[in-house]
This record gives sequence, C-alpha cells and structure tokens, in this order.
Amino acid sequence: MGIPSAWAVIGCCVAVALLVVGEPLFRAPVGTRDILPPESARRRRLVGAFADLAERAGFGLLESPIFEDQGVFQRLGSANEVVTKELFEFFDRGEPPRALALRPELTASVCRAFVEHSPTVPWKIWYCGPQFRYERPQAGRYRQFEQVGVETLGTHDPHADVEVINLGVRFFEALGLNQIRLLVNSLGDPDSRPPYLEALNSYLHSRSSELSEQSRQTLQRNPLRVLDSKRREDQPVISDAPVMVDFLSGASAEHFAAVRAGLDVLEVDYAISPRLVRGLDYYTRTTFEFSAEALATAQNAVGGGGRYDGLVQELGGAATPGIGFALGVDRILLTCDAEGVFASKPADVQVFVVDTAGGESAVVACDTLRRAGLSVERAFDGRSLKAQMKRADRSGAIVSVIIGTDELDEGTVTVRNMRLGGSQRKVPTADLVAAVTGIVALEA
Ligand code: HAM
Repeated sequence: MGIPSAWAVIGCCVAVALLVVGEPLFRAPVGTRDILPPESARRRRLVGAFADLAERAGFGLLESPIFEDQGVFQRLGSANEVVTKELFEFFDRGEPPRALALRPELTASVCRAFVEHSPTVPWKIWYCGPQFRYERPQAGRYRQFEQVGVETLGTHDPHADVEVINLGVRFFEALGLNQIRLLVNSLGDPDSRPPYLEALNSYLHSRSSELSEQSRQTLQRNPLRVLDSKRREDQPVISDAPVMVDFLSGASAEHFAAVRAGLDVLEVDYAISPRLVRGLDYYTRTTFEFSAEALATAQNAVGGGGRYDGLVQELGGAATPGIGFALGVDRILLTCDAEGVFASKPADVQVFVVDTAGGESAVVACDTLRRAGLSVERAFDGRSLKAQMKRADRSGAIVSVIIGTDELDEGTVTVRNMRLGGSQRKVPTADLVAAVTGIVALEA
C-alpha cells in the first residue's frame, strides 16, 4: 500500500469530524423518549378526548406529585416486581433524608390523597401523566410512560364497577378502535381468597417440575402471579389450574354477577377470563384488562384495573372501597397506528404572514391576528418572497398576509386567499382582522 495522498488524509479527518459532530453528546435516558410534534399534539388530543368523557361522567381531575414517600408504593405488594425491582428510588436532601420514589402508577397516590384530604364520597377522579418503572425497554414498554385513568372511591355498588369499565370501553370506541378485547374476572375478597390460594398453591407445587424456572421462582413469592406467565412451557399447567371464580364467597359471587349483568345491559362485549390476575397485589373482586388484538402479545395490554377494597386502609385511612383503571397512552397510540385510526394531524395554520419589508409590521400583524383568535405562522430571517410564499403554501394556511415595502409605505397589507386561485387585495392595516376572518369564515 502506498502513502495516502494529502486529500485522502483530509477526507478522513473531515469524515471523522462529521461523525463526531453528528453524534449527540447526550441522548434521552434508556427507556425514555422525546415526543416531538405532531405526535405530541396527537397525545394531547387523546388526553383531551379522555378528559371530555371522564368529566361528562362526573370525574374531576386530580393532579398529584410525580414522586411520593416511598412507603406509599410499598403498599402495592412487598413481593411485587413493580415495588421490588422497578421503583426509581432516591433520597432528598432533608435532615434526615427522606426516602422517595417516582410514581410507578397512580392508584396508590390517589388513595394517599384520599386519606390526606378526606373528600366526600363517592370520590370520582380522573388523572393523566407520566409513570416510571425500571423495566427492560422494548416496543411498547418504556421506563417513562404515560397513563390516563379513573378511580371511584367510597362505594361497594357494582354499578360503580360497570360505570368505570364502560368508560374505558366508550373511550376506545371514541378513538375509533374496534379490536380491543375486554377481559373480566373476579379475584374474590379476603374471605374467599385463602381457600383458593391454598388450592392453587398445592396444585402448582404438585406440577412445579413442569413449570419454567422463572415461574418456579414466582411460585415461592406469589402463586397467583404464576397464572400471569406468558411462557409457552407454563401454559399446560396454567390451563388446568383451579380458578378463583369457583371459590367466590356468596357476596363476591353476587357482586360479580351484578357487574356482568350491568355490562350485558349496556351490550358491552367482554369475555370472562378466569385466570386474569393482574400485576399488582391490591386487587379484590372485579378485575379487568383491555387487550389490543392488533398488537403483539408482549405489549397488548393497553389498560387494566379493578377493585382495591383494602388499599385505602393500608395507607392509613378508614376502610374504603375503590375501583378504577389506568390505560397506557403509548400503547393505545401504537394500537391506533396498527388499526389506522386517530391519525396525527398537521398543525392547524389559518394565516401565514409573509414579510419582505423586514420591519416590525409583521410582528404586530401576527400578534393582532393571534389575539383575534386565529392560528398564525410566519417566516423569519428575511427570506425571499418566493421562499416565504412556498412556506405559506406548504403550511396549509387559508390566508396569507403579505407585508412588503409598498404596503409599509401605504399603511396597507395584501390579503391573499390561498384557496381561490390566489385572489388577493390590499386593505388598510386597520381592516386586517376583518379581511382575514372574512376569508377564513368563507373557506372553513
Ligand atoms: P397496570 O396494568 O400496571 O395497572 O398499568 C396499566 C397500563 O399501563 C397497562 O395496561 C399498560 O398499557 C400501561 N403500562 C404499564 N407499564 C408500562 C410500560 N412499562 N410501558 C408502557 N406502558 C405501560 C395500573 O397501573 C393500575 N394502577 C391500574 C388501576 C387503576 N387499577 C385500579 N385502578
């Protein structure tokens, strides 16, 4: 090989420099993502649609802290992975330091707030926001993800269960999704649970040699969670396991029947799933999950919930029943993509201000039009008329407002209807809002 030419050496240096420049110094942490426009606008619309449904059903918004005393989340279950492996825990700078954790879900925070504020019952609240779990990231599974949800505290009425479940069903419908399966089960109450757990435990131990290594470990911690395993080798054992619905107490069976009757009256499509156990330990009686058929099994749980009649008491309050659900916004949007509904919309621009005069008139025109309630975009950097008109065209604006030096001298602006073959006229600056709103109303 000969000596490399000077140009080859320079080329190499430039390539290396470009590589170095192209590689960002920092990236979003593993398991988190930046949500850019227009996706961010779609998420806001989704949360808006949920808020609308929830508020029309009498749920008010609760905004609670993103971190809580770590003890709040310990009540989710001492053997639960969300608590033992997935909590983002830290100490503050207090003296002595306080143990805090980023919230992995919101039901415990809602119950903590309920105990703290003693609101009148039934307390019906909805929420939205980021949750944090130190999980292994993959498609549809993140370390920071967003949920929307509702909780009703202070009533045992099975119609509260029906109201909550139905809200989820109607929300998916409102988004245009039609391949969401609703799975329903009852996990019984503290009276009926022990005989069932005993039966399940001895059954699973009798067949433990057929279980996967992971499920054998889970069996030591919480036999119920073995039923949650998606591993193929566990399925024959799981499918023969005793089911909770055969062990329900009279009161639990009656409650479950009333919930099913309510769903039937509303013609809600659901399947009883006797092995649905859910991932958190606080559930009693009704449990349910929304499963997206359009997504792969690993991330097809788009939401879930149930009753947690003992959680408020565990957090230091008086015995208070509760029922609610949380839906995973990230997974719902993946489902919308898979089903081809609730698409991103380009930003809604009504007016584009083109400025070739380089003065402050464009600044004032934008402000005036925005204060009149219009959505207004503009170009910067004194680009040519042609370049700015091209951007106006691409923005989808109904009207463009052109301010050149002639207009500046005359105290006018040129208002152009972008839809009508570009017909345009000059109007006095004072008539700008009237001229623009006239065209927008005509073309809307
Ligand atoms: P969850 O089943 O743990 O329940 O979470 C609800 C939903 O949040 C899941 O179905 C899923 O769509 C989404 N989700 C969970 N983890 C992740 C993740 N790592 N990445 C993306 N999405 C995720 C609860 O959180 C309970 N607080 C629900 C509830 C409310 N129960 C009663 N009231």
